[in-house]
Amino acid sequence: MKPEVFGFFDEATNTITYVVRDPSSAKCAVVDSVLDFDYASGRTDTRSADVVIEFIQEKGFEVEWLLESHVHADHLSAAPYIQEKTGGKIGIGQKITEVQDTFGKVFNEGTEFQRDGSQFDRLFGEGDSFHIGQLRGDVMHTPGHTPACLTYVIGDAAFVGDTMFMPDFGTARCDFPGGSAEMLYQSIQRILALPDETRVFVGHDYKAPGREEFAWETTVAEQKAFNVHVGAGKPAEDFIAMREERDSTLAMPRLIIPSLQVNMRGGQMPPAEDNGKTYLKVPVDGL
Ligand SMILES: [Fe+2]
Repeated sequence: MKPEVFGFFDEATNTITYVVRDPSSAKCAVVDSVLDFDYASGRTDTRSADVVIEFIQEKGFEVEWLLESHVHADHLSAAPYIQEKTGGKIGIGQKITEVQDTFGKVFNEGTEFQRDGSQFDRLFGEGDSFHIGQLRGDVMHTPGHTPACLTYVIGDAAFVGDTMFMPDFGTARCDFPGGSAEMLYQSIQRILALPDETRVFVGHDYKAPGREEFAWETTVAEQKAFNVHVGAGKPAEDFIAMREERDSTLAMPRLIIPSLQVNMRGGQMPPAEDNGKTYLKVPVDGL
């Protein structure tokens, strides 16, 4: 089965949100949505999410799932906002509990912050499946960038989140807590073992040097042959050495502090304080 896939590119965070539709019905899923956030003013905006919602409503699609590939560190998820407007269930990897545990500590969240994944409607593990109308989705646990990363294989399309990016750009960083270059290599080998013609949709694009346009769709065959970090049978040791060296030079994503606090809660803000207002914390020297 070949789902219809529509990509929406967010320039502010280089994120691609996907609408994945069952061609035999109006059912669809939304993968990795974005809530706009201006750090300087602390203001959220739903402009990007509204584009996706309007698209879904104009087409008459019905949302069954709001899928998160992982707890993003570079943008806030709009899953609960979209869910409010369109319905659907929010799903993420079951290892989210590890991520909640780690960052619950980093942000000194009290006992009211549940670290059992209960903020989400469904926790997916390796080998789980789900349906979008007649389309079947299969879940692969593909850790490395984070411990909870998933790849959703829906029909002939794989939504790989932050594992591999476009072949000319390579792979995702592995230096966040719980990340591991060795694990990412193993996860990527499993993705590359999918059929060659599998369409691969990446979670971000940053335009590799020399490329004019943003891009987000490739295939397993292209990744296997040309991915600059793992293609052409690159051995694990070479990949791990390259990844660790490169990661040591990377700055933290601009929105990591607000993103983690919101996304580990399934896209919800922390509870309001006694003045009715909502705050996000900055851990000083804590990350
Ligand atoms: Fe990420």
